[in-house]
Amino acid sequence: MADAPEPDNKLNPEVEKQIRAFQWKEGDVVFSGNAKSGSTWVTQAVWLLTNDLEKSAENHYKPILPFLDKHENVNRPGPGGQPREPGLERAAMLKGHMRCMKTHQASDIFTEAFGGPAKFVVTMRNIKDTLVSLYFHFTKAVKRGNYSGTFSEFFELKKEFVFHNWFSKNLSWWEERDRENVLIVKYEDMKRDPRQEVLRLADFLSVSPSEEKLDAILDLLAFDTMKSHMAQWKHPGPQSKETVLMRKGAVGDWKNYFTEKEEEIVDKVLEERLAGTGLSFEYGE
Ligand code: A3P
Repeated sequence: MADAPEPDNKLNPEVEKQIRAFQWKEGDVVFSGNAKSGSTWVTQAVWLLTNDLEKSAENHYKPILPFLDKHENVNRPGPGGQPREPGLERAAMLKGHMRCMKTHQASDIFTEAFGGPAKFVVTMRNIKDTLVSLYFHFTKAVKRGNYSGTFSEFFELKKEFVFHNWFSKNLSWWEERDRENVLIVKYEDMKRDPRQEVLRLADFLSVSPSEEKLDAILDLLAFDTMKSHMAQWKHPGPQSKETVLMRKGAVGDWKNYFTEKEEEIVDKVLEERLAGTGLSFEYGE
């Protein structure tokens, strides 16, 4: 019998209130996206675009960002016995012109922020590859009890939850896509044409990388390069960030895991929920 993954956290109402009241500043960038949508990749792209690449190699990648939704563990000591701050407090303490932070929330808690100076970079990925990536996240994550079931068991156990989250969050952000301070980046577009997507990000952030810098950024964003750099990250948690964050990096890997029946179930929900929204995805060859 497979272990059941623990239930996922809902946003604490107090944290929601604080996010709504947050003092946004010029230069704030919020990364939003469902888990396993490629947010680490896009975060790195932004970091590289807005930083000096002449710095030493270890500065080429931005470590984990403050997670606005995080409030749990606040009373447990963090790395080195330091008290942990909730993500929002960490975000507020960030120095420098650009304060980068992340969230897994739907767009509605940022209604107040949309009229302000913050920019929102939203990553989206097709639900089938997201599910497979999430499955491996659960099998590797100590925090999630190193889930030991098969993909089909995971699918059965989590499908309602994943469907609910994936559609409600993506569709909520999709509705905001025409805002000047919202940019949607699809994982499949990053895979197909990283140069074009990095240039869209640059335009959104009002930065103009030279051709030379752009080439260097694209090299640093290549899966194998990023994976080898990330392997050197010292992550305080018990899980291996390397295996969780950088697994296969492909579009269409779902075909190696989905049964025909599972594919049918997902296709039916996709048809029902995305019809008429204009939101669509690539699923691999
Ligand atoms: P897979 O598990 O399918 O490999 P997130 O950062 O939102 O948790 O998303 C993680 C997913 O993005 C993982 O997908 C990971 O491998 C993929 N990813 C991260 N960096 C990548 C890169 N440079 N190129 C391609 N995919 C990347």
